[in-house]
Amino acid sequence: MSEEVRAIFNRIAPVYDKLNDRLSFGQHRVWKEMAVKWSQAKLGDTCIDLCCGSGDISLRLARRVGVMGKVYGVDFSSNLLAVAASRTQYSYKQAPIAWVEGDVLDLPFEDNYFDAATMGYGLRNVTDIPRCLQEIYRVLKVGASCAILDFHRPQNSMMRTFQQWYLDNLVVSTATQMGLKNEYAYISPSLDRFPVGSEQVAIARQVGFAQATHYPIANDMMGVLVVSKF
Ligand SMILES: C[S@@+](CC[C@H](N)C(=O)[O-])C[C@H]1O[C@@H](n2cnc3c(N)ncnc32)[C@H](O)[C@@H]1O
Repeated sequence: MSEEVRAIFNRIAPVYDKLNDRLSFGQHRVWKEMAVKWSQAKLGDTCIDLCCGSGDISLRLARRVGVMGKVYGVDFSSNLLAVAASRTQYSYKQAPIAWVEGDVLDLPFEDNYFDAATMGYGLRNVTDIPRCLQEIYRVLKVGASCAILDFHRPQNSMMRTFQQWYLDNLVVSTATQMGLKNEYAYISPSLDRFPVGSEQVAIARQVGFAQATHYPIANDMMGVLVVSKF
């Protein structure tokens, strides 16, 4: 299953950024910026961006923590990491970024290492959500937070119907034009399986996060789970 997910993302890599812009009408940039803000990363912090893909959120984190900070972008798709590395430019205004090929279910970092963390559209794709949250808990310092952005199934039935139509028609037809129909058809079933906000909060509490809140955004079609370790 993990291998299947990794293969999908390796195939998507060349068009991933372009498709995100087209499918979200550019809105994913706003949602990612919200996640970075809600991670509470500060100047000089050492941060991790889990499931970093082509590095969009990592780059935003790097700008936020500045040149005295450090960002690690972790993903198991070598092709997406290659895109991320090609986007990295030296700047005296942003933190250096290390691109790490690895599994977020078994992070290659010590306990209590990070001041803040982010994850965008990753939690829905991992094969073991409790294990992923446990790993995040382990590597965060006491007092640190992680903001986890992903799709969400709206509670309002009209919004859910609209979301289903959007995923089954707009997303799949746009991806088909780029020769990636099957790769994008996976989003809808992955969202069906994905726990809703209250369930995400319950899992986060079970693995030890003292504070866990799910914030619905984009009319509840997306959400940000913010967890803090105390
Ligand atoms: C939809 S992309 C999100 C990329 C990026 N965060 C963004 O928001 O644009 C999901 C990413 O999760 C990665 N991924 C899924 N499961 C993973 C795992 N167990 N370990 C590391 N990366 C994983 C995939 O390779 C892919 O890059």
